[in-house]
Amino acid sequence: MNLVPPSLEALLTRYSVGPKYLTEPGPSDAQLALMAEAALRAPDHAELVPYRFKVVRGAAKEGMAALFADAARAAGKGEEGAAMDAERALKPPLTVAVVARIDLGHPQVPAHEQWAAVGGALANFLTAAHALGFGGKMLSGAKVRNAAVAAAFCEPGETLLGWIALGTPTRMAAGPARKGEAGAVLVDWHPPCKADPERTDGPGPRSPGTPPA
Ligand SMILES: Cc1cc2nc3c(=O)[nH]c(=O)nc-3n(C[C@H](O)[C@H](O)[C@H](O)COP(=O)(O)O)c2cc1C
Repeated sequence: MNLVPPSLEALLTRYSVGPKYLTEPGPSDAQLALMAEAALRAPDHAELVPYRFKVVRGAAKEGMAALFADAARAAGKGEEGAAMDAERALKPPLTVAVVARIDLGHPQVPAHEQWAAVGGALANFLTAAHALGFGGKMLSGAKVRNAAVAAAFCEPGETLLGWIALGTPTRMAAGPARKGEAGAVLVDWHPPCKADPERTDGPGPRSPGTPPA
């Protein structure tokens, strides 16, 4: 019996597709809006929406390429490295910068919960792209920390997470075998044993599925 409902297909078959395997066309405005709507369905404590997706296309790609090239030069990569990094901006049909806006002073939602919301939104955005027939990959690199690059994408208080390269895949995305099965991440929790007053080293790790002593 097939237990997988059609609505789960896109989630279970999404893999990243790097820029090398992306070609025109990129997503339309309407398709990008669907990806953003999917992102907004991610869990988000207090509905802070601590992220923005900034679309880079057309002439803006040249501007991003120039920024990437300057960042590469500043990092000592030389002219060959600068040209390679500029190409990273130009190659994908469309790029979406992912920017986080974390409120470090929020009275109710600590930063790690807001980052979790950013990750959920990013995952939903990528899954929606896949469901619509596009390939994509989240990329960052040291250039996210280049001051000029970060300032070009961020308002004050925002953090540049990286860029999603998007386009039509030229090959089927394949799953890397290095990730484990569901059983590696889905384990039964058991309450800790009653503390032994003589013991100072804690109960120690327990293997997945091992019942409590
Ligand atoms: C915030 C973030 C930044 C990433 N930056 C890079 C990167 O710079 N280079 C890279 O090869 N993969 C990067 N990755 C990982 C890939 O996007 C991808 O998730 C990974 O290769 C696993 O492939 P999969 O998505 O098919 O499971 C990044 C992922 C995240 C979430």
